[in-house]
Amino acid sequence: MQITILPASSKTAQATIRSLLSTPTNTNLHIRGLYRDPTRAPPEFTSHPAFHATHGDIRDANTLDLAGTDALFVMTPPRHDVDDIFQWAREASENTRAAIERSSVRRVVLLSSMGAEFESGTGEIRTNHIAEEILQDAAPEVVIVRAAYFMENWAGGVSSVKDQENPYFESVITPLEYEVPMVAIKDIGSACAAHLLTPTLPESPYIFELHGPKPYSVLDVQRAFKDATGKDVAVRPVEKQDLPAFFGQFLPPALVGPFVEMTVGFLPGGVMAQGNPDAEKRVQRGRTGLGDVIGGFFEGSA
Ligand SMILES: NC(=O)c1ccc[n+]([C@@H]2O[C@H](COP(=O)([O-])OP(=O)(O)OC[C@H]3O[C@@H](n4cnc5c(N)ncnc54)[C@H](OP(=O)(O)O)[C@@H]3O)[C@@H](O)[C@H]2O)c1
Repeated sequence: MQITILPASSKTAQATIRSLLSTPTNTNLHIRGLYRDPTRAPPEFTSHPAFHATHGDIRDANTLDLAGTDALFVMTPPRHDVDDIFQWAREASENTRAAIERSSVRRVVLLSSMGAEFESGTGEIRTNHIAEEILQDAAPEVVIVRAAYFMENWAGGVSSVKDQENPYFESVITPLEYEVPMVAIKDIGSACAAHLLTPTLPESPYIFELHGPKPYSVLDVQRAFKDATGKDVAVRPVEKQDLPAFFGQFLPPALVGPFVEMTVGFLPGGVMAQGNPDAEKRVQRGRTGLGDVIGGFFEGSA
């Protein structure tokens, strides 16, 4: 069986490859990772006889060779260098679809996001809505994994938690006791690997949300930082009206609006906070807890 990973360099793709390579039953498994620059494939993968890195740039459909692929992992790479991220999502998905149509891919596993079912009001998450629309019938079997907020997003707080005399982290999730689903990237990799390999699916497209073992609030994040460092860690909430200035500190101007709308969209009163009425029937849960992910940020540090 041949599984192709596009693009193979993303964090979720790496977790998927790691999970596939550790699957004991698949002696006939071949994994092709498509990279803009294959020399960036890590030795952890290239040293494995079942893994091969090859060139593939989602900007150019002609470089996406899916010949021999049985199952394809695909996600929409975020780009901060374009003025219109939605046009990029359309282009990336159409290039991917064109490559699928030239080949005999039987199954596509698309990494998407919670909230991708909504057409508007979701900001950056609309890139996933666009990808779902274009790819949902691109192969006989399509799996759409709508992942929750990545627990690893909290890595952005590590430097201020570590380096300051008064350790703190900033949170765009308010109020602080508001609970949201969060999932570890490792569990996204396991879920995607499992759905690339499973012999049968209930339907196509097969859509589910992927959450962690339980929802978490920012107070849980604060507790996890405290447990990991042994220090009292403060939270600096970023209120809704301050979101444009907050995102403007580190995002290009064209992305500030989509990130503000995405954030407001999942806070109380937002379009995504209403939840998907079907979601409860379709939630799968990872096993990794928030404390394990945040603790991992500090492994090996003094
Ligand atoms: N963060 C969240 O809470 C969250 C939640 C749900 C869903 N999501 C979705 O998850 C996705 C992000 O996943 P991630 O964090 O795993 O991504 P990521 O680590 O940011 O990886 C993106 C990768 O895409 C590669 N890339 C960029 N342009 C490319 C091109 N033209 N051709 C081939 N490769 C290209 C880059 O690799 P090189 O530079 O090495 O080429 C980069 O490593 C997004 O679609 C996002 O909407 C995120």
